[in-house]
Amino acid sequence: MTSLAHPKVALVTGAARRIGAAICRTLHAEGWNLIIHCHQSLAAAEALATTLNQERPKSAQVIQADLNKMMDVQFLASAAPAVWGRLDALVNNASTFYPTPIPDATENQWDDLVGSNLKAPFFLSQALYPELSQQHGCIINISDIFAVRPMPRHTIYSIAKAGNAMMTKSLALEMAPNVRVNGIAPGAILWPENEMGEEVISVDKLQQIPLGKLGGTQAIAGSVKFLIMESPYITGQIISVDGGRSLQQ
Ligand SMILES: NC(=O)c1ccc[n+]([C@@H]2O[C@H](COP(=O)([O-])OP(=O)(O)OC[C@H]3O[C@@H](n4cnc5c(N)ncnc54)[C@H](OP(=O)(O)O)[C@@H]3O)[C@@H](O)[C@H]2O)c1
Repeated sequence: MTSLAHPKVALVTGAARRIGAAICRTLHAEGWNLIIHCHQSLAAAEALATTLNQERPKSAQVIQADLNKMMDVQFLASAAPAVWGRLDALVNNASTFYPTPIPDATENQWDDLVGSNLKAPFFLSQALYPELSQQHGCIINISDIFAVRPMPRHTIYSIAKAGNAMMTKSLALEMAPNVRVNGIAPGAILWPENEMGEEVISVDKLQQIPLGKLGGTQAIAGSVKFLIMESPYITGQIISVDGGRSLQQ
């Protein structure tokens, strides 16, 4: 655990629910303070912050921002380090994910998918580099095993995550030695949600996973903790956390 007198601080984007929330809970349990970023899930983000603050007072704060708006990205980048006067880790977790079959794909979908998965993580990393550098901190980009091979009917998402993976390597080179930059490429961790917020279960997908089950949020949160807290000599790497899914054709 980090010192309670001067806890380390992490900003996790898209952190109100699902994988982002699990990352927050895991780092918080290690003594970190959390900036819980959200966009539309404000109530869920505030509920998470309340829970964490009940466990340890003044240890979690919510900041709302639309990462597809550059003004919001700049606002988040200035507001986050100001909360506790430091920033030690940025976890670029926020993402949009949906199919974009070629005949129907639109520029709005491009802006949304590339914006949330690539453009915002880049400009957030750029803006927070001085703060992270000061603390010898790190960046974790949540990628996807489909960053290195195409997911059928998800061309724009796959392009955005491929860019995200290259961003991890390129930033690692440029931000060394003060800031480490690594990625995690999840396989099937949680089922995606439909417009009603209900999970869309696919039995076929389970048969493609050698370990035979979904990873669950803790598989990613534990890997984030490993890269942030236990890997001082790892930078520029992207770890697949996929139950062996990427071994299959
Ligand atoms: N789930 C999986 O099995 C899986 C598989 C492969 C990769 N991944 C990757 O793992 C990460 C987390 O996955 P997940 O399934 O937990 O993600 P998710 O629920 O699909 O999305 C996480 C959050 O991203 C935020 N977000 C989306 N667009 C935004 C925008 N324009 N501005 C601000 N926030 C925005 C949303 O926040 P609000 O709700 O507050 O609007 C959302 O709750 C993602 O990077 C995803 O690509 C997940």
